[in-house]
Amino acid sequence: METVRLPRVMQDTAIKERCRGKSIGLVPTMGALHDGHMALIRAAREENDIAVVSIFVNPTQFAAGEDFEKYPRDIGGDVEKIRELADVLFLPDVSALYPEGHSTSVDVEGLSGLMCGAFRPGHFRGVATVVLKLFNIIQPTRAYFGLKDYQQTAVVRRLVKDLHLPVDVVLCPTVREADGLAMSSRNAYLAPEERKAAPVLYRALAAGADAIKQGEKNASRVREIMREVLAREPLVKEVDYISAYDPETLQELENVEKSGVLLAGGVKIGAARLIDNLVFNGLQ
Ligand code: PAJ
Repeated sequence: METVRLPRVMQDTAIKERCRGKSIGLVPTMGALHDGHMALIRAAREENDIAVVSIFVNPTQFAAGEDFEKYPRDIGGDVEKIRELADVLFLPDVSALYPEGHSTSVDVEGLSGLMCGAFRPGHFRGVATVVLKLFNIIQPTRAYFGLKDYQQTAVVRRLVKDLHLPVDVVLCPTVREADGLAMSSRNAYLAPEERKAAPVLYRALAAGADAIKQGEKNASRVREIMREVLAREPLVKEVDYISAYDPETLQELENVEKSGVLLAGGVKIGAARLIDNLVFNGLQ
């Protein structure tokens, strides 16, 4: 595996490989890699001639007061994990992607202000901007994203569609711990007692899904069922949101249909903000 730090070098290499007819699979990450990331990397490896992993803790997607400084970083461990799978690790500095005078960003309007976006102002502008940069630099044929961050996949698909980007967005299922907790680099923030409590978010979503499968069509009833599960866990400090949404528009539903519903929530447990979702539309 080769490590490339400079955007220009990465872009030159990528353009040459694409001109030679090679396909490039990109997995954008912020590092502290776990099995959720590894599933995406394996898919990129299997489906492309060249597998590129990017590791970049993107400052523009963290609002003031969020965890940018203390976000887990473990480049040594990450390199060990991907050495045999990836062909290229793209590892830029902040100053390489955001040099002095940088002043362009891209906003996916509408979708970015809903769900997580209502609690993390500017977050999806930062995500869309860095993803577009990575696409321009790495020239991927396919780019791999996890359904764990469902809203992010919706924003990226919209970005690709609206700006006619020549990239196939490939969505991969959420990888979970044995007790249901969705894997996340931020799970490292959880103290042992909090870690034990954390699967409550998945259990709440699963309870909502069960109710729907048993015929519940009233979205506010589904919401209540999910909130009741969360309320029984005292370590849940705050519930940012938990509800039933349209999987395309991310608008909150009044009536749920088995064929097209996204159950999603974001909660705070200790120092960690956890998100998770279940979607019934053939994707997961
Ligand atoms: P990061 O949180 O490192 O996640 C990188 C990719 O791994 C994302 O597509 C995310 O959805 C996926 N992923 C994370 N946990 C997963 C899990 N348990 N199962 C399956 N996939 C999982 O998401 C980001 O970084 C950033 O916002 C980024 C897209 C890199 C832009 O900065």
